[in-house]
Amino acid sequence: MADRVIEVATTPFLCQKPGTSGLRKTVSVFRQPHYVENFVQSVFDVLDGLAGQTLVVGGDGRFYNQEAIQVILRMAAANGVGRVLVGRDGLLSTPAASCVIRRHGAYGGLILSASHNPGGPAGDFGIKYNIGNGGPAPERVTEAMFARSRELTQYRILEDETPVDLSRDGDTQLGAMRVSVIDPVADYAELMETLFDMEAIAGLFRDGFTMRFDAMHAITGPYAHAILEKRLGAPAGTVVNGTPLKDFGGGHPDPNLTYAHDLAELMFGPDAPDFGAASDGDGDRNMILGRGVFVTPSDSLAVLLANAELLPGYRGRVKGVARSMPTSRAADRVAEAMGLPCYETPTGWKFFGTLLDAGRATLCGEESFGTGSDHVREKDGLWAVLAWLNILAQRGETVAGILTGHWRQFGRTYYTRHDYEGLDKAPADALMADLRGRSLVGEVFAGQRVVLHDDFAYTDPVDGSTSSGQGIRVQTEDGSRLVVRLSGTGTQGATLRLYMERFEPNPEHHHHDAQDALADLIAATRSLLALKARFGAEDPTVIT
Ligand code: G6P
Ligand code: ZN
Repeated sequence: MADRVIEVATTPFLCQKPGTSGLRKTVSVFRQPHYVENFVQSVFDVLDGLAGQTLVVGGDGRFYNQEAIQVILRMAAANGVGRVLVGRDGLLSTPAASCVIRRHGAYGGLILSASHNPGGPAGDFGIKYNIGNGGPAPERVTEAMFARSRELTQYRILEDETPVDLSRDGDTQLGAMRVSVIDPVADYAELMETLFDMEAIAGLFRDGFTMRFDAMHAITGPYAHAILEKRLGAPAGTVVNGTPLKDFGGGHPDPNLTYAHDLAELMFGPDAPDFGAASDGDGDRNMILGRGVFVTPSDSLAVLLANAELLPGYRGRVKGVARSMPTSRAADRVAEAMGLPCYETPTGWKFFGTLLDAGRATLCGEESFGTGSDHVREKDGLWAVLAWLNILAQRGETVAGILTGHWRQFGRTYYTRHDYEGLDKAPADALMADLRGRSLVGEVFAGQRVVLHDDFAYTDPVDGSTSSGQGIRVQTEDGSRLVVRLSGTGTQGATLRLYMERFEPNPEHHHHDAQDALADLIAATRSLLALKARFGAEDPTVIT
């Protein structure tokens, strides 16, 4: 029988612990027999009342996406799920998946992605579960999945392995479950219509405004083609690398100055268009550039907040802003001027969920190229691009003009992040332990007296949950700050991240390169941390 459910005996994998963004491992790990099945069964087993419910399934199109989706569909049917909404060809960007979950009142969703990590047979893959509000499952849920995965003895799946045709929209039956193949762009594009002044943006392009959007061969291609070119009338060719490839063309789909170097080169060269932007593997990150200017994600959040009244979906309803701790304090200054609360959370978009649900924060952002709002429960790359376009259209200024005007009004926070990738774990852990074990308060650092040295801890003001050990903060009396933490998203070794910033109120000093403006802080940090002695090298692998 085509819809016969079988129970397959299995032994647990002990390493299926979801991290910052779901279960993320190399493809070779995921391809082990039963690996996907075990994890998916562990997810289903901890979801109460799943029977008869609707789930959303889709991914960023990377290698193994299609295979994993077919397994998930056969397991969902065998576990009593009523209906699955799946993006055509198995595609859904992360923010679009969040949007579809919310709009269709789904029980939750499975997103297949490893975000900005490289794809292909030698790259990474991932599975993430999002709950009914459209956001990543909170830690107590992922912990329960992990616990379940360690004791699993069998999983349920349909016996018949005939793949479901995902290439055409419409409904099919899989066992007792309905599979609805949907346009991956439509719901998301409709939501964007309600937030932004699309006519004003279309007017920009009619008037000859030029732009390049680099989809980096990843998931935002179809969304950007549909919204920027078809809907808003940007000339064909505005979107480049717009066809999702399984291996992202061999690239590293992370929108920063290092990995989106072609775009960066264009924007700082003689033929730069008015506006440049890029997104990552699964479409939740963004990078914003103007002609000859890069907007740091921290500044981008501050500018969006300061200009939110120009955006139809946000006019008169911004309740507050939230940023992750290592993100610069540029947005804090805007919030203060606007009389709005500004929340400082640990790194990870999931920490914004409670604030967004409670209506305490409306806009959120992270230094790691994430910006978004309460329209979904993920960060959203194209949303940020449309927000900037809307502001550019309303103000009739260049990106550089908006940025310098912003700094003049609120002061400039010089900011840089230096990453040291591929370090050995032991000396990296030792560095963190050393920093935790001493206090620099009262000492002089980069020519200034240290007034704060702590390890960031957070109590969620909505649900009271606590998180500690979130990163070392060293602050001096002139308001300069160093943050030191280890990445929580890498799949190999350790990555050390150093975040440095300094506030500059005087407009006469606003036009320096951030590396120059922060040179003394950078040097003081390297010697404080004894990077050379510990790791043999002093220069970072990536600067953002
Ligand atoms: C992912 C998360 C973000 C987080 C980023 C950096 O993109 O969704 O919320 O800021 O990773 O994390 P890391 O621990 O590597 O600095
Ligand atoms: Zn991402």
